[in-house]
Amino acid sequence: MKNTVLTLLQQKQDGDKITMLTAYDYTTAAIIDECGVNCILVGDSLGMVMLGYENTLPVTMEDMIHHTSAVSRGAKNAFIVADMPFMSYQASVEQAVINAGRLVKEGGANAVKLEGGAEVCEQIRAIVKASVPVVAHLGLTPQSVNVFGGFKVQGKNLSKAASIIRDAMLIQEAGACAVVLEGIPARLAEIITEKLDIPTIGIGAGSACDGQVLVYQDMLGLTNGKAPKFVKRFADVGALMKQGINDFINETRSGAFPSEEYTYSVSEEVIKELKEEGVIQ
Ligand code: KIV
Repeated sequence: MKNTVLTLLQQKQDGDKITMLTAYDYTTAAIIDECGVNCILVGDSLGMVMLGYENTLPVTMEDMIHHTSAVSRGAKNAFIVADMPFMSYQASVEQAVINAGRLVKEGGANAVKLEGGAEVCEQIRAIVKASVPVVAHLGLTPQSVNVFGGFKVQGKNLSKAASIIRDAMLIQEAGACAVVLEGIPARLAEIITEKLDIPTIGIGAGSACDGQVLVYQDMLGLTNGKAPKFVKRFADVGALMKQGINDFINETRSGAFPSEEYTYSVSEEVIKELKEEGVIQ
């Protein structure tokens, strides 16, 4: 069954946790979709995990459309959310609506996600009015990395916690259909989840959220370096890949691959005829 804004809302009301994972390509999207994950996020994290940038800031609309359309061809039932990249919605409301529309029209997204609270409510209102569902994103919003001075947990002091709660109320009022809460204390996420009618989807925001999202490379052990505290490695696919690749190298070098099992044959009759025709000796 296709997940929609309505099924996600129903999940919140039923206390049925929402699952969301990132995907950026056709093959991964098909695997994640087959597992029955509710939502696939084509995150601008693709700038880091797919394109090797240091942060999400260089990601373009063209990058997002390219990857979103691959994901939407692979996923049948998941609700597909595409990130609006840095500077695709901040400069003007009109630009925000045009770019949100492109992610739906050209990328096949079911909804768009943008970062921020009060400062993007006008954009949320206009995009929703144009019939595109909007997922908001509060807390540690990676596009503000330069303002935060790094990827740091947000909402730990009174004024920041109060402003995140206020923003959560405002984005709901503006028409957002869900909100991602990233890198905030669990108790703050719990308060916001209780206050809002729309689902909260947490990443580094504790277990009280209505759902959880992770970057698939992080949770499958495909990323290098020290992972943030909130990342649980559910499998070590990176080690499995290295094992397979090393086996390929060794078997190719030794001649063990390809064995007959992986080889096409031709009848001796044809070889004999090739000789008779003088094609080979
Ligand atoms: O871009 C992304 O993958 C995200 C998640 C971290 C929520 O925004």
